[in-house]
Amino acid sequence: MASSSFDASSSSSYTYEDYKETADWLLARTEQRPRVAIICGSGLGGLADLLDKRNVFPYGDIPGFPQSTVPGHAGRLVFGELSGRPCVCMQGRFHFYEGYGAHTTAYPVRVFSLLGVETLVVTNAAGGLNGRFDPGDVMLIRDHINMPGLAGETPLRGPNDQRFGPRFPAMSDAYDRELSALARRTAEEQGLGGGSLREGVYCFVGGPSYETVAECKLLRLLGADAVGMSTVPEVLVARHCGLRVLGLSLITNKVVSDYASEEAANHQEVLETTRLRSQDLQRLVSHVIAKI
Ligand code: HPA
Repeated sequence: MASSSFDASSSSSYTYEDYKETADWLLARTEQRPRVAIICGSGLGGLADLLDKRNVFPYGDIPGFPQSTVPGHAGRLVFGELSGRPCVCMQGRFHFYEGYGAHTTAYPVRVFSLLGVETLVVTNAAGGLNGRFDPGDVMLIRDHINMPGLAGETPLRGPNDQRFGPRFPAMSDAYDRELSALARRTAEEQGLGGGSLREGVYCFVGGPSYETVAECKLLRLLGADAVGMSTVPEVLVARHCGLRVLGLSLITNKVVSDYASEEAANHQEVLETTRLRSQDLQRLVSHVIAKI
């Protein structure tokens, strides 16, 4: 595979050796042996700055790695210790709406698995569908709805390599119960900046346009509490290869589900809420990791 020119469209043709080449390249350049990987959502990359004993790799330097194109996403892999635990952090992730196939958006997760990672923590910014959620709330992801996936657009499509996992993996237990309980307890101890930890179903949509009023009503009817444009492909691949997953969404805006509303979702609001609340979410993640 060429390391510099990444073809986002021909994304289902990665081999075990492609992932292995990326993992071996990293293992040869860092002494860190992370057991936990963290994927930082929009504006949540500050977590990586909290790591001690850091080794930083810009995505562009890593053979096989896709490149991030979104403002607010730094685009680097940071190895180090968080709360004394060896971790690897993605500062900037890959989105379907950037033009990548689902396989590409989840490429790093198989690399993490080959690095020896056992636990994946995913964070994201999401729109609140549940009327009881307010911007700034943190939602523990209990389950997800994979809108593109239900129509077949999933990173597990194509030939299955048993070395990663089974052809038909279960997803009824995608979000680890023990880790979720740990996150609940930790959030309670920490007070979460005055708010409590919400809990709910995250719906993955392709984006990049925000949802129409009718789409918001539909997603709510389907049982979703929050909507966003990431995370689920990474979780599918993580569960396929046996990683435990903890998912946290920062609710950055209330979706518009009423035609009389003058509001409209916008990226600035998403980034601004994230800026205001990122510290609390980062603190929660680092305290949870201390207890893993
Ligand atoms: N919709 C989809 N994705 C999002 C939203 C939203 O309202 N807010 C943050 N990410």
